[in-house]
This record gives sequence, structure tokens and C-alpha cells, in this order.
Amino acid sequence: MSKTATKPRRAAKSEPPAKTEEGTPVSIFIMGKRYEVPPSLTIQKALEYAGYQLIRGCGCRGGICGACGTVYRFPNSYRIEIGLACQTVVQPDMYITQIPFFPANKAVYDIETLPPAGATIAALYPEIFKCVGCGTCTRSCPMDIDVLGYISKAIQGDLTAVAESSFDCVMCGLCAARCPAEEVQYNIGILARRLYGRHIAPRAGHLAKAVAAVEAKKYDVAIQELKKTSLDDLKKLYKALEVEPDMADESWTPKNKSYLGE
Ligand code: SF4
Ligand code: SF4
Ligand code: FES
Repeated sequence: MSKTATKPRRAAKSEPPAKTEEGTPVSIFIMGKRYEVPPSLTIQKALEYAGYQLIRGCGCRGGICGACGTVYRFPNSYRIEIGLACQTVVQPDMYITQIPFFPANKAVYDIETLPPAGATIAALYPEIFKCVGCGTCTRSCPMDIDVLGYISKAIQGDLTAVAESSFDCVMCGLCAARCPAEEVQYNIGILARRLYGRHIAPRAGHLAKAVAAVEAKKYDVAIQELKKTSLDDLKKLYKALEVEPDMADESWTPKNKSYLGE
């Protein structure tokens, strides 16, 4: 997933915050208390700079895990702004708080036995029909996902469209936190993606071959050799591995194909 998790800040109704000289500390407010922090910090780093220890609400630090959903507001603005704390750089006079964990409605199911159909989503999450189409979820999404769009597709019973259009969801929960219909959009999206992945997506032929090779014990000797290798030699082997280049197209394969099950 290469898409940036930083959402461009929507124009505030009030005057924008004053620009600061490069390097000049900015004032921010964390749960109501004022702190001066370097202007280059993300909200997450500013929290730590201010002395907070992040035990929850912090995971990958890279915009992927969705643990750091944060809301903030600027003085004289009616707007609640949203962002991932690890991806959003502080701005002067931000009033910041990280959202707590909201208990989310999460259906329990066995993906193997669930019918891969839109009706399954409606059966497990009938509250989709309570959606009032306000679009707050879409405006709250730091991944710029059309959340209302995929909830609408769920209502229409289009499982594949829900799976595809919710693909970039990082499960941050900001949409659900603000939904007046109390939907838990991210659990609806992941149900669709699981159903799609398990029952609809074409099987990957090369993966089946690789699994068959593992089951046929093709790599057992190599694994035994690795187990006997010293830590230093393991590090050398690891560094010498051919790595898939960034943005390689789908036809890319390593030069050494001996571990591809072929
Ligand atoms: S926030 Fe809730 S009610 Fe509003 S459009 Fe999104 S799912 Fe529907
Ligand atoms: S769809 Fe909801 S949970 Fe997923 S990234 Fe967007 S706001 Fe976060
Ligand atoms: S810590 Fe994982 S998305 Fe911010």
C-alpha cells in the first residue's frame, strides 16, 4: 500500500493558523495542556517530546496499522480535523487528543462457511440500512477512502465493490467514531474483503505450487542447513538476498528461482 496516510487539511472556516519561522517552536495543546514543540514533529513525536509515553494508540509509526487515530481543532474553527498521529505534522495552536478505543460491533463468523454474497453482509451487519448518507465517514477518513461509497455498495449487496473500495482501510476507527448511525464501517469492509479473498478472488497458481513444494518437503534440507549456520553467516546470507525493487511490476521474479516451488 503506497498511498500516503496524510490527508490534506481541509480549509478551516476561521483564519488559518499563523506560519512560524523555520525551527521556531510551535504551541500545541494536548488534552488541554499547552506545550512548545519543534515544528517538524509529527503529532506522535510531539506527544513523546511532551513527555507522554505511548502504550496504546501507537503501532507501526508508518501509516499502516491505524492505531493512532487522532482528532484536533484550531481556535475559532468549528471543524474537527482528523489524522493519523504518526503521519500528521503539528501546526500552531492545534488542540489535540487521540481517540480512545471504541467498543466496536464485530460479528463472529466462520469465513469458510459464509456464503460470499452481499446478503451475508446485510445479515451480519443489518445496521448498514440505518445509514443516513451524511458522508461524515468519508470526510473523517485519513486514507481518503469513499467510506459512504462502500457502505452504499454494501446496502446494494455488491460484495466485490465493497471489498475493492475499502481495500486501503487501516482500521483506524475514525469513521465509526463519528457515525451518527453507529456503523462500524471498517468491520463491514474487512468482512467483504475476507469473503472476496476466500471465495471469489482467483487462486494464485504460483502460491499453490509453492505450498505443494513445501508439503513435498522440497526445502527441508535447506532449512536444516540454515539451522546449522552461524548468526554472522545468516546475516551475510540475508544481506545478499535479492530484494524485490520498489514498484516492481507483477511479473517480477528473483533471478534465483529455486525457492519458488518451480
Ligand atoms: S457516517 Fe454513518 S450514517 Fe453517515 S454516511 Fe457514513 S455510514 Fe452513513
Ligand atoms: S475507512 Fe474508517 S477505519 Fe478505515 S481508514 Fe478510513 S476512517 Fe479509518
Ligand atoms: S502508528 Fe500505525 S498508523 Fe500511526
